[in-house]
Amino acid sequence: MSMKDRFRGKDFLTLMDFTPIEINYILDLAFEFKRMRMMKEPHEYLRGRTIAMVFEKHSTRTRFSFQAGIAHLGAQSFYSTPQTMQLARGEPIKDTARILDRYCDALVIRTYGQEIVEEYAEFMKNPVINALTNLTHPCQGLADMLTIRERKGKIAGNKLVYVGDPYNVCQTLMVCSSLMGMDCYVAVPKGWAPAKVIVDFTEENAKKRGTEMVVTDDLEEAVKDADVVYANTFHSMGHKDIEERKKAFAAYQINDETLGWAKPDAIFMHCLPGYRGEEMTDSVIEGPQSAVFDEGENRMHTEKAVLALVVA
Ligand code: CP
Ligand code: NVA
Repeated sequence: MSMKDRFRGKDFLTLMDFTPIEINYILDLAFEFKRMRMMKEPHEYLRGRTIAMVFEKHSTRTRFSFQAGIAHLGAQSFYSTPQTMQLARGEPIKDTARILDRYCDALVIRTYGQEIVEEYAEFMKNPVINALTNLTHPCQGLADMLTIRERKGKIAGNKLVYVGDPYNVCQTLMVCSSLMGMDCYVAVPKGWAPAKVIVDFTEENAKKRGTEMVVTDDLEEAVKDADVVYANTFHSMGHKDIEERKKAFAAYQINDETLGWAKPDAIFMHCLPGYRGEEMTDSVIEGPQSAVFDEGENRMHTEKAVLALVVA
């Protein structure tokens, strides 16, 4: 199948639906978009197109990076929240999806359950792009892979350690690592774990590629000799047990001492928003190893690549 046929009209719901070759293809295009923006070269490949954005959870990066990127591509975005749509008064998703499909060339959606984005995809002919669900955050995963590629020169062969809520971002990094040839360690307190569907997928893929996929409560073992130290909040959007989580995860902070267990040239990453004094210290996020703002920028370049490839 040609690359065009692989991508045109395809939903972007989880990176589990993409091969490593396809992920690299998206990253190559993102890198090209980054270069074009730096050189101020016009790249309005989606001129005249319309993209709907429906966000049920808070967002800074995802919303603005998509809206800026859509403008660079010459298209127009429409942002809304379910709370202000007839969805809030009981209109079914399947009706909303078929109507949005008539107006727009793609839907970018941030919501709770993965089954919600799947339902939109079922009822829309145009592509649906997952801008974060409880299960996964594939747009973040692409930006993270681009950042690792830029900072480390390659993706495969690195050891990535994730510290924080074993949720959407954690699960995305596990998927990315298992597909792209990185060893992946997830450090969480006893009793906490990523979703089984992700553990099963990533263990099988890591085994195929001969890489490690480890969930452990031993922070030192996890961080030791890591190339990429990735922190995320202890309390994701939608979780009510914030104080309990802060207590349970308190010993899993990335600070100068724990970052010191990684390789001396390790980079520090975080999808943001970050909570200084919880999952990491100010000295780490502001320190010389931090790549978090390049990572945030890369959200825009990778999302533009996805849009340019999937919008028909
Ligand atoms: N990383 C990320 O998705 O940030 P926002 O929640 O601000 O979009
Ligand atoms: N795990 C976090 C990521 C935010 C971008 C959350 O779901 O709130």
